[in-house]
Amino acid sequence: MNLQLLKQDDISQVARFHSLYIPHSTFAQLGIPFLKTLYHSLLKSRYGFVYTYWEGKEMQGFIAGATDSQRLLRSLFLGHFLFFLGISLRALFRHPRLLSSLFQTFQYSRKVSLPQTKAELLFIAVNPESRRRGIGSKLILRSLEELKRRGINGVKVSVERNDQKTINLLQKMHFCQEKKFSFYQRERVLLSCQIPE
Ligand SMILES: CC(C)(COP(=O)(O)OP(=O)(O)OC[C@H]1O[C@@H](n2cnc3c(N)ncnc32)[C@H](O)[C@@H]1OP(=O)(O)O)[C@@H](O)C(=O)NCCC(=O)NCCS
Repeated sequence: MNLQLLKQDDISQVARFHSLYIPHSTFAQLGIPFLKTLYHSLLKSRYGFVYTYWEGKEMQGFIAGATDSQRLLRSLFLGHFLFFLGISLRALFRHPRLLSSLFQTFQYSRKVSLPQTKAELLFIAVNPESRRRGIGSKLILRSLEELKRRGINGVKVSVERNDQKTINLLQKMHFCQEKKFSFYQRERVLLSCQIPE
């Protein structure tokens, strides 16, 4: 089986993938220890899920999602408040410009709010050498199945407006554009998809 739910032993690899292949996300800029805590929380939270894709012993990609991203992020920050405070202060000391990004992070839920769609796909990345072989599509499809299994009938995702390959991927998976918005001084697009019964 190529696709599997995240295991404790694979958290470091997923954090490394996130750091390498989604380097511009604020979460990535907070460093690998932060990402490990993020994925550990996603593994433990009843609101989150992470799937990994394997070929032999090599992880080729992962996807992270939430049945309710607002609740997930709130419980994540409250549950690790002192850790996040410490790690954020250290990152801010090194990169003061992160302050405005961190401030904006707290406005994210409002910007992507859609009536009746609380589920969200948060991050996806595929090893560059394995791209364009359908792995991203399989990860999304499995996430839709996971959400359906949990009784959810719609999901959203936000991407940078100039990230054409991810937008193409989402459109291929029947996501439609809901709105455009600005976040971290960049233009983003919010897309959503209904999950058939
Ligand atoms: C986006 C990403 C996950 C796609 O993974 P993938 O395994 O290559 O995706 P697939 O092979 O399933 O591609 C499905 C469709 O996506 C679109 N797509 C994927 N790569 C593309 C590219 N380089 N240019 C244009 N469209 C592309 C195409 O429509 C493609 O269908 P096609 O091959 O029939 O034309 C991968 O490029 C990636 O890891 N990017 C870096 C991380 C990132 O930016 N993540 C998104 C923000 S969290």
